[in-house]
Amino acid sequence: MAVREIRTMGDAVLGKVCKEVTSMTPRTKMLIEDMLDTMYEAMGVGLAAPQVGILKRIVVIDVGEGPIILINPEIIETSGEQTGGEGCLSVPGKAGQVTRPNYVKVKALNEDMEEVIYEGTELLARAFCHEIDHLDGHLYVEKVEGELYDAAYEEEDE
Ligand code: NI
Repeated sequence: MAVREIRTMGDAVLGKVCKEVTSMTPRTKMLIEDMLDTMYEAMGVGLAAPQVGILKRIVVIDVGEGPIILINPEIIETSGEQTGGEGCLSVPGKAGQVTRPNYVKVKALNEDMEEVIYEGTELLARAFCHEIDHLDGHLYVEKVEGELYDAAYEEEDE
């Protein structure tokens, strides 16, 4: 188990556009394992590679239904709308109201570089959007309606 340091807002790495992953290497496999360890240790529901300082298009998510690994993810379909509290491991202790699609379909590669499709609603749809935004250097705070507030324990950190 290797838990990596989570970069926080103000760190320039969080504003950068990440590069596509072109092949799976032992180093990238280790990064993915470390991202999962880091997310679980921090009790988050998602983590993107730039949050541990690596500018690669890799996301891990677990909304309580087991780990999802997304490499080079793309949102290919959305519908509906949901507004709710959102947090981020890179913005510790804070949360804010963000509107996201209520349904999101994602195309990505898995750890074996095979194409996978995931569909999510509610929290999973929100996590897809939030984490994929990280890969383009965007934080949820840019989308917050109103002010950031101190996170309650029940807020989910992504
Ligand atoms: Ni985040």
